[in-house]
Amino acid sequence: VVVRASAYADELVKTAKTVASPGRGILAMDESNATCGKRLASIGLENTEANRQAYRTLLVTAPGLGQYISGAILFEETLYQSAVDGRKIVDILAEQGIVPGIKVDKGLVPLAGSNNESWCQGLDGLAAREAAYYQAGARFAKWRTVVSIPNGPSELAVKEAAWGLARYAAISQDNGLVPIVEPEILLDGEHGIERTFEVAQKVWAETFYAMAENNVMFEGILLKPSMVTPGAESKDKATPEQVAEYTLKLLHRRIPPSVPGIMFLSGGQSEVEATQNLNAMNQGANPWHVSFSYARALQNTCLKTPTPSRSSASTPPTARPPRPRRECSSRTTATK
Ligand code: 13P
Repeated sequence: VVVRASAYADELVKTAKTVASPGRGILAMDESNATCGKRLASIGLENTEANRQAYRTLLVTAPGLGQYISGAILFEETLYQSAVDGRKIVDILAEQGIVPGIKVDKGLVPLAGSNNESWCQGLDGLAAREAAYYQAGARFAKWRTVVSIPNGPSELAVKEAAWGLARYAAISQDNGLVPIVEPEILLDGEHGIERTFEVAQKVWAETFYAMAENNVMFEGILLKPSMVTPGAESKDKATPEQVAEYTLKLLHRRIPPSVPGIMFLSGGQSEVEATQNLNAMNQGANPWHVSFSYARALQNTCLKTPTPSRSSASTPPTARPPRPRRECSSRTTATK
């Protein structure tokens, strides 16, 4: 049986290459309203639409952003939102050569029949939503599912994660959006780096098998893996060189060179750790562009930095970028 290629095939390849362009990576700013609320609460701000708009305006108007950022993942609210000055946020991004992307999954729910594991919802109605997102200017999509090492992972949870990602990837390509494929292997746990490596091999083998079964075009996808590290509560610590060695070994074993870009998530690593680990992975030539798609490891300092112009505590919080009250970073699982 000959399977028809996506009508968008050429555009998908071009979009994927633009996002995976030298010296740049992705700004993940697609926190759901609930998760964005946690970020705002960490600096004492209320989770209102106006505060989310002010914060995201601050992010997309940072001077020189387009030099380092090739794509920005948005939550649906932001895709249709204007900045504080009235310009559309997608237009501000496009003017800087930044490709707008959109989170399309509907979040995690308990996976019946598993060991307290989760699965990711959002396939129902996905094609229609994605067609509308394309019209609104999005050119890539993100679907984040998770795999927990302390809770298994069970065969069922891994197969479900892989199949959901593959269906999402095929539907996205059909609608002109480059799918970012993200099976996040959570940092939580006391396990060592070898165990993470073993689980990651299994997860990526299943994910590529399912994507091949679903006729996904590998030249038109991007990956968002977790780095291979010891569990966050492990007594072992790994150096950037060890993380790079294990992670690159995993990628070489499991990821075809036709995939244009590997854009790592930060997963609760500090900004410095995530940067040092990524730097260590780019010391030699790789078959794919190896870069970042960080949320917390790009935004934490931004949230914590006081704005010089803010002199009085009585200034209305909606009008200005936020001022920090306490540390917002955490090593644990983010719900996005
Ligand atoms: P972190 O970099 O904070 O892990 O978030 C990346 C992301 O978008 C997870 O889906």
